[in-house]
Amino acid sequence: MQNRRNFLATIGTIAAGAVVSNPLKAAVLSEGEKLKLVLVGTGIRGNSFWGKRLVDEYGDILEFVALVDINPGRVKYAADYIGVGKDCKTYTEFDDMIEEQSPDLIIVTTPDATHHQYIIKALENGVDVLTEKPMTTDEDKCQEILDAERRYKRKVIVGFNYRWSPYNTKIKELLMNNTIGKLVSVDFSWMLNTSHGASYFRRWHGQREWSGTLLIHKATHHFDLLNWWIDSDPDEVYANGDLEFYGNRRDKSGVNCRSCNEKDSCAFFWDITKSQTDYNLYVKHEQHDGYIRDNCLFRPEINIYDKMNVNVKYANNVYLNYMLTTYSPWEGWRVAFNGTEGRIEAFLDVPYLEDVQISQEDMHRAEMDQSGDQDQINKPIILHKLWGEQEIINVGYSRGGHGGGDERLHDHIFRTPDAEDEYQHLAGTRDGAMSVLIGTAARNSIESGMPVKVGSLTTLQPRAKRLV
Ligand SMILES: NC(=O)c1ccc[n+]([C@@H]2O[C@H](COP(=O)([O-])OP(=O)(O)OC[C@H]3O[C@@H](n4cnc5c(N)ncnc54)[C@H](O)[C@@H]3O)[C@@H](O)[C@H]2O)c1
Repeated sequence: MQNRRNFLATIGTIAAGAVVSNPLKAAVLSEGEKLKLVLVGTGIRGNSFWGKRLVDEYGDILEFVALVDINPGRVKYAADYIGVGKDCKTYTEFDDMIEEQSPDLIIVTTPDATHHQYIIKALENGVDVLTEKPMTTDEDKCQEILDAERRYKRKVIVGFNYRWSPYNTKIKELLMNNTIGKLVSVDFSWMLNTSHGASYFRRWHGQREWSGTLLIHKATHHFDLLNWWIDSDPDEVYANGDLEFYGNRRDKSGVNCRSCNEKDSCAFFWDITKSQTDYNLYVKHEQHDGYIRDNCLFRPEINIYDKMNVNVKYANNVYLNYMLTTYSPWEGWRVAFNGTEGRIEAFLDVPYLEDVQISQEDMHRAEMDQSGDQDQINKPIILHKLWGEQEIINVGYSRGGHGGGDERLHDHIFRTPDAEDEYQHLAGTRDGAMSVLIGTAARNSIESGMPVKVGSLTTLQPRAKRLV
């Protein structure tokens, strides 16, 4: 049998970030041999989506050989939760793991600001990487990843799951087919509610040193969708952002929910002891790292924005207006595309436009559900040609697993890596970087009050047509 590591090396010689290829495409496995995976970061996303779901759905073709997390309690808990085989080892140090193991792929699901460390160490050790979004949290780390990918001739996949949902894919198809002529401008608003939106401020995400702010952590999903839909690179960014609602409010005591003396009066009180999953995953292992999962939303350490507005001029002269709100009464999103021959409008979960009403909590729970048991519903996209009638295009959609995107991303990477990628769903470091760079440019713009050129941030230069 051809040596798998050397075999993969032959497809890893592509210029850094330039071409997206699935590193597992050509993996040659002998009869009964499984793809060897390592998971770094055994929190909620790693354990559920990249851990348990992979073992449950693809256990016939892959296996975890190691789990790594700095929290010794959580990594042991993860082994049991994921249901790894008896030979899978747990580590608290990546370096110890890589001394002993020879994985085919390392999956990185640690907090955002630490992704680059593990991406680069994996590449240095000759292993391909799959990283959760955002690829990283600033322009310097972006550059380090791009350089490492080029130097070590290995590939990185960025897990942009939102691209894979049928609804978002339909928008891509309409734009790819020039259904509204030449695209000229885009208006995109994302509303987070006081449940899911607030949860970012409870967690490590509330500190920019971990998340890079929601302009990176959350908006990376949206900027990636926009870059992919618009099919061009961002050229210039101007932004505003502020922290007004959450954060250091003097009238709050600033302790975590469990120990707070305002439990009865605070609308945001959240009892973590009532959630078995969160209790087992976080509270039981607090003593090892001091990470408090039910932190106060009004603690002084919060230093991210809770309202953000970003204007982007793309290299193909498309203008984007983007708004992210974090304490809306309902959660959902709206996008409108203006073209020389018409307009497309798309929206999800806008309550006054929905046939079926669902509570905000139930909606988020359904979205995170990986079981695949959710009902298919039709969601409309409105296509209105100049001087024509409006047309309603219904797209079959399931709420679970990020609109059905999660499952399709997994299938393409692991089950059918050779399948044609007609809509350019798979993302590599160039796409990972372009999305992060809008966020970092926006942050820089908020601080300086000036527009920021994306081409000034790294060696990547914006192109009128996105490079795939
Ligand atoms: N694509 C999506 O829809 C989606 C959804 C949720 C989370 N995510 C991403 O997944 C990643 C993990 O998020 P989460 O919600 O699971 O967070 P989490 O806090 O539940 O888990 C993070 C884990 O990383 C560990 N960790 C912290 N610092 C570390 C370090 N330096 N080295 C190794 N391990 C470290 C923690 O102990 C914890 O177990 C983030 O990058 C997040 O953006 C993506």
